[in-house]
Amino acid sequence: MTPTTLPTPRMIPDSLRQKIESYVPRYPNKKAVTLPALHMVHSHFRCVPYQAMKEIAEILEITPAEVADTMSFYGFFPQAPLGDVRVWICRSISCMLRGGDELLEHACKNLNIEPGQTTADGKLTVEFAECLGICDHAPAALSDDGRVFGPLDESSLQKMLDDLRKGPIPLEEL
Ligand code: FES
Repeated sequence: MTPTTLPTPRMIPDSLRQKIESYVPRYPNKKAVTLPALHMVHSHFRCVPYQAMKEIAEILEITPAEVADTMSFYGFFPQAPLGDVRVWICRSISCMLRGGDELLEHACKNLNIEPGQTTADGKLTVEFAECLGICDHAPAALSDDGRVFGPLDESSLQKMLDDLRKGPIPLEEL
């Protein structure tokens, strides 16, 4: 008996596919929609799993490798789900000179994770970042709901982590 291969169910829902397709007329070609498509998928799933990457390629009539190229260039799109809040602690020169590296290490130790990982309760993902463009707040951090933190020290870092673990703040409350 020949084994049958079942088709993989689609991951990207129809409404999101339509939204991605609606961007095509705004751009010179379908491939140029790769980055907006990645952002849309990322905000829907809080990650871009391999299957979603393949489906973006199918929608935009490009290869999965081309989508992967864009993903890896920006380093913003994880394949595994993120925590409820994602925070970047800057390690570039201005922040590093003012203790950014130590704060990142301190935060990760406190949360029992490594940089790039998510806490066991799924509430917080901590990553390092290159310059966040807020050097006047060095050492600084930025969360993906738009909060800016800094200048940080050990005590304000702890307050930041406690606040972030309460969950994202709606945009209108910023
Ligand atoms: S060096 Fe950290 S925000 Fe610019």
